Amino acid sequence: MSKATAEDSCTLVIFGASGDLARRKLVPALWSMFQGRVLPEPFAVIGVARSPMTDEQFRARMREAITEFARVQPPTQKVWDRFAQALYYHAGDPASPELYGGLSEHLRRVEHERGTGPNRLFYCATPPSLYPPLVRRLGEAGLNRPPEGNDGWVRIIIEKPFGRDLSSARALNQEVASVFSEEQVYRIDHYLGKETVQNILVFRWANGIFEPLWNRNHVDHVQITVGETIGVEGRGAYYEEAGALRDMIQNHILQLLCLVAMEPPVTFDSDPVRDEKTKVMRAIRPISPPEMDRVAVRGQYGAGFVAGRRVVAYREEKGVSPDSITETYAALRLEVDNWRWAGVPFFLRTGKRLAKRASEIAVQFRSTPHLVFRRNPEILAEPNLLVLRIQPDEGMSLSFGAKLPGQELRIKPVEMDFDYGRAFGGEPPEAYERLLLDAMKGDATLYARGDWVENAWELLTPVLDAWASIDDPGKIPIYEAGTWGPSAADALMDKGRHWHRL
Ligand code: NDP
Ligand code: BG6
Repeated sequence: MSKATAEDSCTLVIFGASGDLARRKLVPALWSMFQGRVLPEPFAVIGVARSPMTDEQFRARMREAITEFARVQPPTQKVWDRFAQALYYHAGDPASPELYGGLSEHLRRVEHERGTGPNRLFYCATPPSLYPPLVRRLGEAGLNRPPEGNDGWVRIIIEKPFGRDLSSARALNQEVASVFSEEQVYRIDHYLGKETVQNILVFRWANGIFEPLWNRNHVDHVQITVGETIGVEGRGAYYEEAGALRDMIQNHILQLLCLVAMEPPVTFDSDPVRDEKTKVMRAIRPISPPEMDRVAVRGQYGAGFVAGRRVVAYREEKGVSPDSITETYAALRLEVDNWRWAGVPFFLRTGKRLAKRASEIAVQFRSTPHLVFRRNPEILAEPNLLVLRIQPDEGMSLSFGAKLPGQELRIKPVEMDFDYGRAFGGEPPEAYERLLLDAMKGDATLYARGDWVENAWELLTPVLDAWASIDDPGKIPIYEAGTWGPSAADALMDKGRHWHRL
């Protein structure tokens, strides 16, 4: 990534600024960038939401948010004041056309006051049902292009979920395309901003020794796990509409799959990278209804214990129906039908209230073709396993068999381990820092493109439909909170394969 320049300086307008995302992620990320001197300056933020608030109240609220959530804490009042002066608040309903005249005026005033120039970055962090009217209103108010007589840029970041199935994602893409050109649109997936996720590509393409092994000749299968111990954390109403497939697999986990499976792009630029990811999505074999039970498993957490603490069942969470059929766990077995990956299954799983918070990609290599230690038939050599640990305990390990010291010939799997903390020290930047900065610089490499998003929905819509069609609450497998999910997920692993124990 190149260094920030004056051309990246902008005013960021956050729609939904009184909400959780702005408080927990966006403003703390801006603050950390400001502290690290990577935020293009001068800058300004206008928070927009319906809740009445003055600039001062908004600033006080954001100061609390930073104290609670930012990676870097305010060192002195003076530094904080310098940051806080760039924060403004504009009360109004983003769904209402009346908001936008006043907002345009406000923007001009702030741009003049802060000297930020004509560049504008809009951030949609409202409930997703508001994205279509919001985009439309921006267009009607002429806010989709720089102010008259200026040659700055206008971009828009759209939060997930981008649609809730194929038809709604298509409709949203069309709505967005009628107002903005694709180069202006940044569909965010915060997993792509994580250091460990970006490192998948560096690992693959900055190291010559792995690429020759990265294919069907050497890889037996790939497992991607995103395990969470948290439940729905007060987001019951949202989660009831989403479920694990929409919340995690459609975006974060399919992105991880694409990074593992994609071909090297010609250059590490937005379109070449995203072209290759889209090719992977298009190569994933569609899931046909007769195959559904063999390749897709869902579950919902019941009561149980997580880290020694008793937790309630999903159906007892606030905002959740007592008859809910929403899945809090989903696992899939996918095949990527292309030259590199034909016959190599990709197993994906994610769930809330699992036994451990751990996200990883495990690449299981094929067993040795022939075991030479015949005189010791009890000797089994485990196949090599490469694990990319996304979080926590960020790092990577490669396991291989070693001779256990002693007179007898015995083999024990051992690990070569790389640990981010030990190797690099310090705390890596938050995903939102990197992604906000990229949007300011006009680099969409780590953002999802419209066609990719549609492909992802196209793949998952048959599963969503099949699951929605079985709406008897008694039929959804319940797993005990604090375990690794429904036992049916083990049956996805054919040919003696098993989920990697985390
Ligand atoms: P919240 O419910 O906390 O905040 C939503 C914001 O939108 C508030 O500012 C609220 O303010 C405003 N809003 C709510 N309802 C309406 C409405 N009917 N009309 C106009 N404005 C409304 O949500 P989050 O901040 O958690 O999420 C925002 C978006 O970001 C969602 O799309 C979510 O999926 C996505 N996201 C959130 C993550 C998170 O960690 N929170 C992570 C990844 C994505 P007011 O009532 O004052 O108008
Ligand atoms: C969000 C999901 O996109 O990602 C949440 O909506 C989930 O349900 C979160 O908890 C996980 O993000 P992270 O960065 O904590 O792994």
